[in-house]
Amino acid sequence: MDVKLGVDVAGMALKNPLIAASGTFGYGVEYESLMDLGLLGGIVSKGLYLEPRLGNPTPRIVETPAGLLNAIGLQGVGVRAFVADVLPRLTKHDTALLVNVCGDTVEEYAEVSRILDGAPGVTGLEINISCPNVKKGGMAFGGDPRMTFEVVDAVRKATRLPVIPKLSPNVGDITIFARACEEAGADALSCVNTLLGLVIDVESRRPRLAFGTGGLSGPAIRPVAVRMTWQAARAVRIPVLGIGGIATANDVLEFLIAGARAVQIGTANFVDPGLYERVLTDLRAYLERHGLTDINQVVGTLEYPGDAERERRG
Ligand SMILES: Cc1cc2nc3c(=O)[nH]c(=O)nc-3n(C[C@H](O)[C@H](O)[C@H](O)COP(=O)(O)O)c2cc1C
Repeated sequence: MDVKLGVDVAGMALKNPLIAASGTFGYGVEYESLMDLGLLGGIVSKGLYLEPRLGNPTPRIVETPAGLLNAIGLQGVGVRAFVADVLPRLTKHDTALLVNVCGDTVEEYAEVSRILDGAPGVTGLEINISCPNVKKGGMAFGGDPRMTFEVVDAVRKATRLPVIPKLSPNVGDITIFARACEEAGADALSCVNTLLGLVIDVESRRPRLAFGTGGLSGPAIRPVAVRMTWQAARAVRIPVLGIGGIATANDVLEFLIAGARAVQIGTANFVDPGLYERVLTDLRAYLERHGLTDINQVVGTLEYPGDAERERRG
């Protein structure tokens, strides 16, 4: 049986729902020799500011049970070097290219977006308002619904590309932030960034990361991310990209059933860049086993206890 894996997210036609997540796949070109980038539905670049940045002092990564705690601090080459040196190499690959946009100020987010708007080959902008590892911007914007609105609104006015704010899981009610983004004109949402964590070295009684706290990723966060994706997808009409601890087709399906239109794979890239081929094969097998012909048929099909009863009552 021929099954369809292509998805449409905010006008972006992706050949399949698997996207490499920001910061875990370099700028994409680093993986050229390891795999066929054309296998991917899309790639999200590492976060970019206007200027180059060194990031935080080391150590910046520590392993945790079923995950990683990182505080890279958005090291990057800056948006102009990305457009001049990296983008021409990336556009040779048949995959969607999303750029992760960062800023210390609302104006910087808008300026980075304006530069990318005119850059050939960029498919969409992911707006990073959720990085826990920087002192300014990042989570400070994504943790306040008013600031979330302001950043997304400014970016919306700076570009015609699809605008996809990346939400923080470090909030009480993610639906407030999802709605703020939708109201500001976002085309889709990425859900979620890393969870704020702390690992302590008990001998020195100091944090294991030089920055102190860090962002937790990997399988450890998956149930939290699935829950937040499900909540966000129910709260808005725009599509949601699910992110958090995905490594297998089963993980992908959890997010799609919860309501995500596509997913991003992060920490698992460090373990096995070959996973995409396997996940695609297993997704096809799942569809065939369930008599389905199109991956979109599983999106938002969660049968949650009490939902049917509530719908009957209106
Ligand atoms: C080392 C590392 C660097 C990251 N850098 C970024 C980044 O630059 N911008 C961003 O929005 N998210 C960044 N993230 C977050 C991931 O894109 C993703 O949202 C998160 O890791 C959860 O997915 P995962 O459990 O599959 O890794 C980073 C994550 C890791 C582990």
